[in-house]
Formats: sequence, structure tokens, C-alpha cells
Amino acid sequence: FRTLDTADLAGKRALVRVDFNVPVDGGKVADDTRLRAALPTIAYLSKQGAKVVLLAHFDRPKGKVVPEMSLGFVAEPLSKLLEQPVAFAGDCVGPAAAEVVNGLADGGVALLENVRFHAGEEKNDPDFAKALAANGDVYVNDAFSAAHRAHASTEGLAHLLPAYPGLSMQRELEALDAALGKPKKPVIGIVGGSKVSTKLDLLRNLVAKLDYLAIGGGMANTFLYAAKIDVGASLCEPDMAETARQIIDLAGSAGCKLLLPTDVVVAQEVKPGVASSVRNVYEVQPEDRILDAGPETVATLNATIDQCETLIWNGPLGVFEVPPFDKATVSAAEHVSERAKSGKLVAVAGGGDTVAALNHAGVAADMTFVSTAGGAFLEWMEGKVLPGVAALEQ
Ligand code: 3PG
Repeated sequence: FRTLDTADLAGKRALVRVDFNVPVDGGKVADDTRLRAALPTIAYLSKQGAKVVLLAHFDRPKGKVVPEMSLGFVAEPLSKLLEQPVAFAGDCVGPAAAEVVNGLADGGVALLENVRFHAGEEKNDPDFAKALAANGDVYVNDAFSAAHRAHASTEGLAHLLPAYPGLSMQRELEALDAALGKPKKPVIGIVGGSKVSTKLDLLRNLVAKLDYLAIGGGMANTFLYAAKIDVGASLCEPDMAETARQIIDLAGSAGCKLLLPTDVVVAQEVKPGVASSVRNVYEVQPEDRILDAGPETVATLNATIDQCETLIWNGPLGVFEVPPFDKATVSAAEHVSERAKSGKLVAVAGGGDTVAALNHAGVAADMTFVSTAGGAFLEWMEGKVLPGVAALEQ
């Protein structure tokens, strides 16, 4: 990469791709993590005297102007966090964008309207990319979480302007490299979530790279089923049993030790505070639903974590949203956070529910790195090349 500190920025228009695809509640930003993630880059560029022009998508308007999907609502909270005004342009290309960009003083910040209001964005149309590039002298991509999309603003622009990773993007790539690229060994992965079918490539890639892989959540039931263990009325994908067996074999030949639950928490329904019991996996009853990993399983996991120097975590171990089925996830998360805080473990986590689970456990801030990415984090864990990152490397 060319890093941002090598760029000549004073008086230049910096087109910065950020990810402002934030959760919304009643028309307001419900979680500003992604706005905060963009602050270091924006502040740095502004301080260097660049005119900062922000490009982002919001939701999936499919190439049409959908007023409810305007990015306008983000300008004010962003301006508060930045402690400086943020001008908003009603279009990301053409005269409306040019007028706002041309009105910026050095160090000023503008946010342009949702790039996905134009069909050319998702098609990575070269003419649309050129129209975007007309408002920039350099391109900065600070949106790791959108880097799995080969769109005009995430990929195409990197070929048209001098391109740099933003500070968050750079930090994210360094953290991910420390976890899976060149990790300190031994490395353990925790993968949870409900379905094996959505995480096949990820599991295949991980067993080839890790020393230990702990499988939790609903997908563990499919692995137990594949090992001919009765999972009662639990969530399970019987047609994935053969695939699960292949992954078990792959792990064996790659020298990756799989950790599957040895005991589980079962109940007959998923309701807060419902009566539950702990059972050995061989004693699951026909009416039982497995909703969490048991204490013995967590003790084994925690002891294995103690032998490792690096951990990568995606997906909860149980139905953590519904206590008491959050116990295994919370207990493992607390253990990981203690190890990470004492400097004994590099702990990286990301993807969908994972951040919510770590927040629920109150330990997200103790991890070495928590990715704000969903799909991009998963694709990276699958070993895929992310087009937005690859374009910066060229
Ligand atoms: C995300 O929220 O994961 C990114 O912003 C990508 O959004 P998308 O899945 O709509 O491309």
C-alpha cells in the first residue's frame, strides 16, 4: 500500500469512501460505531488541509432515488462528533455535488448523497466512477466493511485517482493480518451461529489455518448429528451432515483440533427465564432443544484458550439474546477479555452477531480488535480476496 502519510494533501480534494450503513431507529442513528470509525481519517485529512468529500451508501435502494434512504440524516450526528460543520449535497455526482465540493474551504467536510441512488455504483460502471472521480484529486478508502463489494465507489475509483487506505481501513487490515495472516501460534478460532450452510467456506478455510477450532451455536448441533449423536428437537441441518463429516476429516488431516460441545443447556422453548437443564450430549432427550453450550464445554474451551496466543471469534455459542442461554458466550467472552487485557492473547472478533454478543458480555472494548464489518469480515475469514482491498494494493 501507499499509506496516507505519504500523500500530498494540502488544498487537494480527498474523496473518502466511508461506511455509513448504520442501524436506524425512528429516522435517527441508533448506533454510531461506524461514524466514529471514520473520524480519525476525516480529522487527519482535514488537519492536512484537504477538502474532505465523503462518499457512502445506505441500505439497498437498487439504483433508484428512494427518499427514505437518503444519507442526509447522518450529516448532523457526524458534524457533532467531528465538532465541525458537514455540508450535505443532494447528489453524489453532477452539478449538485460539484457545487458543494467547490464551496469547501481547505479542511472543510462534505457528505454526498447515497451512491446507490445511481445504478452505475453497483455495476461498477466506468462512466459513473469517472463522474465520482470528478470531485476528487485523491481517493481514500476507509470502508473495510464494504470492501467485499466491487462497486464504483469501493473499487472503480481506486483505478482513477491516486488511492490510499484510510486510517481505520489500515488498522483493520493490520489487525486481521495479525489474527490470520501471520498470527502468533497456537491460534484458536471460535465459530458459532445457527447454520453450517452459511459458513461452509469459512469453516473449510479455518481448519486449514488454525490449531484449534471451537464450534458453537446451532451449527454445533449439525456436527453432533454428523457424529451420530441424537440432538432431539434442536435446530439441525441433517442434509449438511455429510459436509460436516468432510470438515471433520479436513480438520484431522490439517492438524486442526475441533472442539465440539461435550455438554449442552437444553429447554423446551426459547423464552427468557424458562426452565433449563444441563445435559451430557449423549443424554439429550427427544423433546430437548439445545440452546447453549454447557459448563464443561466452556471450561475445556477456556483451558484451550489459555494455551493459545491468538484467537479469532465469529458467532455466539448459544442463543445469547435470551438469558439464561447467554451463559456460555458471556463466560468465554469474559475469559478472552481477561487474557487479552493481560497481553497474553491477541483477540480479534467480528461479523454480524459477534459484536452484539461481546457488547452483551460487556467486553468488546477489551478485545485487541473488533471489526465493524459484517459480510466483509466473513469473506475475509473465508480466505477471499476483497475487491476493495485488492484495488488499493495495485
Ligand atoms: C454492511 O453493512 O455490511 C456493509 O455496509 C455492506 O452493505 P451491503 O451488504 O448492502 O453491501
